[in-house]
Amino acid sequence: MTDRRVWKLVRRPVGDIADGDLALTTEPLPALAEGQFLLSIRYLSLDPTNRIWMSDQEQYMAPVAIGAGMRGGVAGVVVASRKAGVAEGDVFGGLGEWADHIVSDGTGLSRLPTIPGIDLATVFGTLGLVGPTAYFGLLDIGQPKPGETLVVSAAAGGVGQVVGQIGKIKGCRVIGIAGGADKCRYVTDELGFDAAIDYKAEDVGAALDRLAPDGIDINFEQVGGPIMVAVMQRMKRFGRVPLCGLISQYNASGPADVAGMWTMLLMRRLTVRGFIVTDFAPRFGEAANALAGWMLSGQLKTRQDIRPGLENALTAVRDLYTGGNFGKLLVEVTPPQA
Ligand SMILES: NC(=O)c1ccc[n+]([C@@H]2O[C@H](COP(=O)([O-])OP(=O)(O)OC[C@H]3O[C@@H](n4cnc5c(N)ncnc54)[C@H](OP(=O)(O)O)[C@@H]3O)[C@@H](O)[C@H]2O)c1
Repeated sequence: MTDRRVWKLVRRPVGDIADGDLALTTEPLPALAEGQFLLSIRYLSLDPTNRIWMSDQEQYMAPVAIGAGMRGGVAGVVVASRKAGVAEGDVFGGLGEWADHIVSDGTGLSRLPTIPGIDLATVFGTLGLVGPTAYFGLLDIGQPKPGETLVVSAAAGGVGQVVGQIGKIKGCRVIGIAGGADKCRYVTDELGFDAAIDYKAEDVGAALDRLAPDGIDINFEQVGGPIMVAVMQRMKRFGRVPLCGLISQYNASGPADVAGMWTMLLMRRLTVRGFIVTDFAPRFGEAANALAGWMLSGQLKTRQDIRPGLENALTAVRDLYTGGNFGKLLVEVTPPQA
């Protein structure tokens, strides 16, 4: 193999990600230097934060440079190695590029475990990425207690489905907010949430008044905008808000009007804490062990939305901002044994 395919950032998107903001290019694979290995990418993770990385707004990592390979979470198999201790067939996951192959010295990658009964897509996508986000955000910041009311937005997505189920494991009453009847049915009927609000079909504030008349203890916030304001206005005193994401704002050109919630932060003495999952990197093993245990005991189910073909990554990533994905969004770059 002499070439690789890689998506490169051509220009920074304005508003929604457009055709032409990224381009799929073919380029020669560099020869491996001592200490490097070649990873054949099996799965590419598509994440809402990809849109942030494409921009040059203030963020928690350097923006992707114009002309550079698009950064993304990857899982793959070593097909050649000049690095001591790394052999063909070893499986790694971590930060890479939207590509079919990457040359790496191992920076940003770690070995993915083989867990009987849990497939690689789930080990990578859920145990490695969105699961720890749910785990640390809810348990460390949300501090759930039995009998409390937990609201989670983007409830049927990668992070949200795990948050709600951990909430149930911890004895909370869980209300999910999601777009569409199918996603709402999924979180209640298949995942065991107590209730779901279809924000595309009903008024979120009125639904919360009906479903949580005594107020909300924890808001696991993922979307921002008017949905966030509606939840914040119904928090109990001393409620906790793990601020995980603001997806409704990622394509927006100006700040959302959230003035309606500031008074509540004061009057209800809320604790709001933004976090990035990598803040908890030294404890990732703890999360993966707990999540795997819950999966194997049948207490945690997850849904992956796997799209075939690296060439479809640009079309697929846009689904995150319209709700076109249903579960953790991955691209299958290389089918098994290909
Ligand atoms: N802090 C961290 O370290 C960290 C790590 C991972 C993810 N996150 C954040 O967590 C959130 C979920 O990420 P994920 O990877 O699990 O993605 P996801 O939930 O699988 O996909 C994104 C979902 O967001 C919902 N959405 C999109 N635009 C919306 C809007 N305008 N209003 C309401 N909902 C909207 C859609 O679901 P519906 O069909 O229900 O609308 C969509 O399916 C994102 O905000 C992401 O940035 C944060």
